[in-house]
Order: sequence, then structure tokens, then C-alpha cells
Amino acid sequence: MNRMKIALTKGRLENKSIELFEKAGIDCSPLKQESRKLVHELPDYPLDVLLVKAQDVITYVEHGICDLGVVGKDTILEQGGSFYEVLDLGFGSCRFALAAKEGDDVFGKLRDLRIATKYPNVAKSFFDRKGLNVEIIRLESSVELAPILGLADAIVDIVETGTTLRENGLVPIEDIAKLSARLIVNIAAMKINRGQIVDFVERCRGKI
Ligand code: PRP
Repeated sequence: MNRMKIALTKGRLENKSIELFEKAGIDCSPLKQESRKLVHELPDYPLDVLLVKAQDVITYVEHGICDLGVVGKDTILEQGGSFYEVLDLGFGSCRFALAAKEGDDVFGKLRDLRIATKYPNVAKSFFDRKGLNVEIIRLESSVELAPILGLADAIVDIVETGTTLRENGLVPIEDIAKLSARLIVNIAAMKINRGQIVDFVERCRGKI
């Protein structure tokens, strides 16, 4: 058997992924030990696990360095790429939404809207579909500040519980897309190593 490689998104999705793989009968003990190691060889399944940031999961899978990856649909929608999206893993559920200050008539404004976001491609295509021209203001953090401080008219961001919006006087105006963690597969690996990949996918599918 060849050893496969999987890139996992570090952080929240990492723990949920490990939980799922263990339910699927794959011993992930090396991943649960406190360490700074970035590649972990699983003892009883032919899989090496890499821990990287979401954007890099797609890069490693697209380039064929990893056969498999676990990444949020948010990153897939923003970054795109060539790979198979084979499974909705069910965890990491949230949504992309347009949000603004409570009481603001966002669509009533007579000039191009200014939209702050960490997801410029998602925001742009949402407004393109509406036929609206907008100015996208890219931020890397605390996007909710932008409408409060007058940097933008509205935001496109991830909403999970809605707490961050609420605590900052913002309200969701429109949902854009449902999001959750996805299992992705390199296109060539799916052809060359189909049997092993299907085994892994089916083990996971059975435990979602
Ligand atoms: C995300 C998002 C919101 C928040 C929404 O940020 O950008 O700020 O979560 O969650 P809620 O609806 O449950 O309040 P995240 O915590 O991922 O941090 P980040 O700003 O560093 O991306």
C-alpha cells in the first residue's frame, strides 16, 4: 500500500477532523500529543497528516503534494482551484452573510456601496449576481468594525452563532452561502490511487 498524505486545516477544523477519523477507526494518537511537529505518520493506516492554514490545504492538494485535504467551504469559494470536493464533513457549519448596522437601508444608498470583507472574491461575485457595482475594501481582521467606524456600508463575513454581529450592533441582511468543512481530493490521485482514496472517503462518510 502507498502511504497517502492529507492536509488538515489547523485549529477548529483540525480537532473535528481528528474526531471524525477516530470514529472511522483510524488511530490518530500522534496528532493528539503536544508537539510542534507538522507531519504526523498514523500508526495503523497508510496516511501522513500535515497541519497547515486553510489556503495552503488547497495549494498542497492542487499541486499533488497531498492526495487529500480538509478545508472550509469559505476558503474553497474564495480561492477556487482544481480538485474534487468529495464530501461535506458536516462540522464547521456557518454561513457567509451580508451584514450592516441595525436600521441602515443598505440597498437604498444612491452611490456604489463600500463592502469590507476578508473574502473579496465571494463579495464581488455576490454583488455581480445582483448587477451591483461595489467598492470592496479588504480587511484581515475584525471586519465588524468597518460599518461601525464608517469605513464601509456593510460587510460580507462568516456568521456562526451571530454573537459577534449582535454585540457590535450589526444585523444580517442576506445569507450568501452555507459553509462547512469539506474533504477534497487531488485529481490525479483519484485516478492513480482510487481504491485507497475511496476506502478513506467511505470510512469518513459512514461516520458523519
Ligand atoms: C469569524 C468571523 C466573525 C466570527 C463570527 O471570525 O469573521 O468575526 O467568526 O462568529 P459568531 O457568529 O459565532 O460570532 P473568527 O473567530 O474566525 O476570527 P478571525 O476574525 O480571526 O477570522
